[in-house]
Amino acid sequence: MEELQADIYDYPKYYDLVYGSDWKAEYDFLIGCSERFLGRPAVSMFEPACGTGRLLHRLGQAGLRVAGNDLNAKAVAYCNQRLARNGLPETTVVGDMADFQLAEPVDVGFNMINSFRHLNTESLAVEHLRCMSRAVAAGGIYVLGIHLVPVIGDACDRESWSASRGHLTVNSNLWLVDRNLKERYEEYAMRYDIFTPTRQLCICDQLRFRTYTAKQFLQLIQKVDGMAIEAVFDFQYDLSQPIQLDDATEDAVFILRVA
Ligand SMILES: C[S@@+](CC[C@H](N)C(=O)[O-])C[C@H]1O[C@@H](n2cnc3c(N)ncnc32)[C@H](O)[C@@H]1O
Repeated sequence: MEELQADIYDYPKYYDLVYGSDWKAEYDFLIGCSERFLGRPAVSMFEPACGTGRLLHRLGQAGLRVAGNDLNAKAVAYCNQRLARNGLPETTVVGDMADFQLAEPVDVGFNMINSFRHLNTESLAVEHLRCMSRAVAAGGIYVLGIHLVPVIGDACDRESWSASRGHLTVNSNLWLVDRNLKERYEEYAMRYDIFTPTRQLCICDQLRFRTYTAKQFLQLIQKVDGMAIEAVFDFQYDLSQPIQLDDATEDAVFILRVA
């Protein structure tokens, strides 16, 4: 098998196949959150670190005004092309989630699967949340999904996903290589195994995530004026089952209310 050491996010087609397949629960959750926490359907949504925008184009098709940013130009191009194919404006831009401003605030911000943890210092995390508190209109919400490090019990350290479309199959594996809770980072190896009738390719990368215990996340939020935790769910995305944040919590989807 051909092997390539590369930035995994430079391959949006493969990312989107693997991570785009499981969109429905997150999509329904976002629509449900809007109704529950805004008291009305959302009109506009913004996704920082949107990647391929696997949810954005579906929300756009449902009539919402959507936009996003991402550091990766290839992901943004992929995302905009799909928005255009769906007759929607190309509203995602190359940008840093810790340093941006929107022309107009939105009802809902969302960031579902750990992208926030790519911000590897406390000051970048605070800057991001400050950007989001300006990007979301007063009374709106920011839906932020992350894996916390549980203080009780073992943290998950491996994930595998697989998806196929036509003759293309992508198997994705992510596994922990280093966890340093003092320095607050986890280093993961990531590998896509890609199979087509004519080619077998493996793309390998290493990703760094900042770690948060529940307590560290609560301390972070306190540094951001005008943002507070309204509710917490887990990655079941079940609005009828809010969870109590405690030392054993690992999967957390925070509903952050913007004042
Ligand atoms: C796990 S992907 C998630 C993409 C998308 N949010 C989703 O749910 O599928 C993480 C994304 O974060 C982006 N990213 C990392 N650091 C960033 C930053 N500082 N600003 C904007 N995007 C960033 C990467 O380029 C990548 O596309």
